[in-house]
Amino acid sequence: MKRITPILLLMFCSSFTQAQHITPKPQKITLNEGPSFTLNNEVIIEYNQNSLKELSILLSGSIKQATKLSLAPIGPNKSEKKKISLVLVKQDQTKDFNKEAYTLEVKKTGVVITSADQAGIFNGISSLMQLIPVSTDGKALEAWDIPAVQISDKPAFKWRGVMLDPARYFMTKEYVLRYLDMMAMHKLNVLHWHLIDDCGWRIEIKKYPKLTEVGAWRGTGKNKHGGFYSQEDIKEIVAYAALRNIEIVPEIEIPAHTLSALAAYPHLGCNNTKFNVPTKHSISPEIYCVGKETTWEFLQNVMDEVVPLFPSKYIHVGGDEARYNRWKKCEHCQKVIKDNGLKNERELQGWATRRIAKYLEPKGKVVIGWEEILACGIERSTGIMTWHKYSTAIEAAKNGHPVVMSPVKHTYIDTPESKLPGEPPAATWTPPVTLSKAYNWDVIPKGLTAEQAKNILGPNTTLWNDRFLHNAKQLADKPGEGTTASEAYMDYLSLPRIAATAEVGWTPKANRDYSDFLKRMGTMYHRYIQKGYNFRLPTPELRVKRLADGKLSFSADSPVYNGELRYTLDGSEPTKESEILDKPVTASSKQSMKIATLIPYAKMRSLTYTYTAKGNKYAKYGAQIGEWKSAMVAGKTPREETFDATGLINKNGTYEITFVYTGGEFGLDVKGLKVVRNDVDLSAENKKVGFAGGSGVSKHIVKIDNYQTGASFKIKANICGDLGSDSNGVVMIKRLK
Ligand code: ACM
Ligand code: ZN
Repeated sequence: MKRITPILLLMFCSSFTQAQHITPKPQKITLNEGPSFTLNNEVIIEYNQNSLKELSILLSGSIKQATKLSLAPIGPNKSEKKKISLVLVKQDQTKDFNKEAYTLEVKKTGVVITSADQAGIFNGISSLMQLIPVSTDGKALEAWDIPAVQISDKPAFKWRGVMLDPARYFMTKEYVLRYLDMMAMHKLNVLHWHLIDDCGWRIEIKKYPKLTEVGAWRGTGKNKHGGFYSQEDIKEIVAYAALRNIEIVPEIEIPAHTLSALAAYPHLGCNNTKFNVPTKHSISPEIYCVGKETTWEFLQNVMDEVVPLFPSKYIHVGGDEARYNRWKKCEHCQKVIKDNGLKNERELQGWATRRIAKYLEPKGKVVIGWEEILACGIERSTGIMTWHKYSTAIEAAKNGHPVVMSPVKHTYIDTPESKLPGEPPAATWTPPVTLSKAYNWDVIPKGLTAEQAKNILGPNTTLWNDRFLHNAKQLADKPGEGTTASEAYMDYLSLPRIAATAEVGWTPKANRDYSDFLKRMGTMYHRYIQKGYNFRLPTPELRVKRLADGKLSFSADSPVYNGELRYTLDGSEPTKESEILDKPVTASSKQSMKIATLIPYAKMRSLTYTYTAKGNKYAKYGAQIGEWKSAMVAGKTPREETFDATGLINKNGTYEITFVYTGGEFGLDVKGLKVVRNDVDLSAENKKVGFAGGSGVSKHIVKIDNYQTGASFKIKANICGDLGSDSNGVVMIKRLK
């Protein structure tokens, strides 16, 4: 039998595939026999308790945004009209109670979302919104049929978080609200809000106005940058989040990453030194003096204003990357060490963490901090957020601490998704976090018993903004798709990777399947377009097969439904006019291919993926970056030709460029070459003159010491025929070290 591709399946049997297209994947979803439910203006939204009124208004607004239909939300109703019913039910709260669990049933006669809590009702709404058809070609849909399904669903983990970092690069209240919508769409339920760092203090504290008058701004004149959230802003943001089942956990760093506070109030440091808010990212050695009671008065007063603003159980106190140089020389800090029999400054940090935890405990708050605090000596109730060393998660979970998993390799989305040319400048201290890496990991570290594993609360992805400090000037405002220092750039780094985190947190590991996730994302991208989110459209996953006759067969599936895969075989960039890869293409064994995903109606194009033929007879010289043909070397006067080495120059190092003669009556003279990065000449220049002809090759070495993620790299060479114009060959590049 002929295999039906997913796209055909979508056409023949759209209700089935749409029913599956919920991300994160529900625990149990069955397609009911029978016709679907038709949404139209006659349908009402009914809720059985007044506490659901706001959610029913939210649902009505979301449906209006997606379909333009106006569904009236009304309370308990006996009308015979077709309805979407939101139903809060009583449930034995002691037995397996999960407030986020819900059921969703769609029949021809109506839709019913049931849960024992508003959290579950919200999750049901979120799933329902993904059952509503979405246009995949930009044409307005005319019918709004929701497939007949039965869903029974609950999350695997109770913490499914994203960390936003407005401290390093301020994001407006409007953007935070928009980001909360992005999170809610994926059932992400914790916004970990990094409100304080060396480069900015972002929360209004009425008792200490200088925190935001001074600490929220850096630079001067037209370079002044910053902002903060007033307490009114915060109340609005917290309420907006709560309706969407998102809890906001503020991060109030103690003791390090606090130079913005010291700039406002120098007495908070060990030496009363005056500082400016730094304009460049680095981790400051200036930290709170925890030996002075005046610092404690400050910290407690700050917490007194923070606590009522955030209903969350946890308050994050940072605690990462503290350097103790100042404490070592501070009489106040040393006195606390001595008076309390502490061994060293690390134990002093433990003492400070315990002290703030103790202060917050009667206010109903639990402290959580980065993994570093574990080694400082803390109470068992204090939470640990592992970012770097899995051993801290294991040790903490074994000892009964609540643990949140934020491993760099899988959740640090301040990194780019790849090293492909065109990727925005992003964090380079750790390798790219591909979508596959964001998806394929287990939240429970190895080595824990089932009982200990219960201490793992869930995953938390982190969108650090320190890179924006470095790049804000280099990043143009909006070149192409999403390479900007602005909020579109934050969208781009987040989507689709937060969808992966969402599924990692929601769907039990045994039910997760990366290829199934990618298929569902094929629909999700259209929902992002509908909502105006800027996302990273994936490049095609090109399959290259060597056939029995030695030729290559290229094939690929579009990562997005109704997407186009456009390719070239001549080394040029694929455009909307290039050939479409919709069936396997056969080519010679030496053929390279450039290919990109396009969504024509949204004018979106992915980055280009370049396949460079391996195993050709020049492979010992590396990868091919171009060729010269007789027409190019018409005379004996050298002319500059450009060869694209983007993606092949992929880190700092020494590269060898080789001109290999392949045929023709004459050879080639190479009269020097240089490397150009993003149209800027690099010092990597090689004036060596060489000759390629017969079996002789012309080799040229360049050294790259200012590699930049995402930049293009071109080799510009001055070449001409040695005696006449009939000369042909290939240009290769290889990294030597
Ligand atoms: C961290 O990345 N410093 C927690
Ligand atoms: Zn001190």
